Amino acid sequence: MKKLALIASIAGLAALMTAISAQSEVTSPTSSTGSISLPEPRTDGGISVEKALQERRSIRSFTSEPLTLAEISQLCWAAQGVTDDKGHRTSPSAMATYPLELYLLAGNVTGLPDGVYHYSPQGHNLTVISNEDVISELFNTSMGGKEDWRKSAPAIFIVTGVFDRINKIPGQDLSRFVYVEAGTASENLLLEVVSLGLAATYTAGFDENKTEEYLRLASGETPIAIIPVGHKAEAT
Ligand SMILES: Cc1cc2nc3c(=O)[nH]c(=O)nc-3n(C[C@H](O)[C@H](O)[C@H](O)COP(=O)(O)O)c2cc1C
Repeated sequence: MKKLALIASIAGLAALMTAISAQSEVTSPTSSTGSISLPEPRTDGGISVEKALQERRSIRSFTSEPLTLAEISQLCWAAQGVTDDKGHRTSPSAMATYPLELYLLAGNVTGLPDGVYHYSPQGHNLTVISNEDVISELFNTSMGGKEDWRKSAPAIFIVTGVFDRINKIPGQDLSRFVYVEAGTASENLLLEVVSLGLAATYTAGFDENKTEEYLRLASGETPIAIIPVGHKAEAT
């Protein structure tokens, strides 16, 4: 009887260890380089482009349901993912200079600690910038002094631009190209949101200085668009 109990407890311990190790694979996808690998993006799922265009709407109210790492992966890829072996991306870039950067504020993503992350298109991975609770601090109040609805989003994407990458032709200011690119990358992300059955709003009204500070941007890099993403809360 004692022997049976011992076997049962060893089996229970083994099952527990397997569960813990499976869980740690989900919660710590960090590589030896400190980057967090994202799941491979799907290139054949979802709905037609026409249906995504028809259904896209700005949604500003989210449930408390978390996003998954697979959804984060898909959204990063849609905005800036590499799509060929020459390094071209999902969105076009003037003279292939790629002046955009993509950041993620994670507030409720399964398997990803809350914090600020930078997306690397080449490695299709995330690098941790900080593990501060930036969402509630950055969106504490809106510019009008009211509660900012963006605070309830489980994840927020921020598109920034590095103007020096494109302004290399003497005598020509091509800065507006960076804003054009931010629009194309953001629309990709918005359409992927629809394809995944999620909800989002494209926003350009935000505190620029605070955003630069929380993303720890170097001078010359400017935040352009902020896209909160989550699960749509049904109207009550
Ligand atoms: C350049 C730009 C900036 C925007 N900024 C904000 C914003 O700061 N806050 C917000 O709630 N919505 C913002 N929006 C979303 C618009 O309010 C929204 O697109 C518009 O009401 C049309 O609704 P629809 O997106 O559902 O078609 C912005 C949209 C664009 C294109």
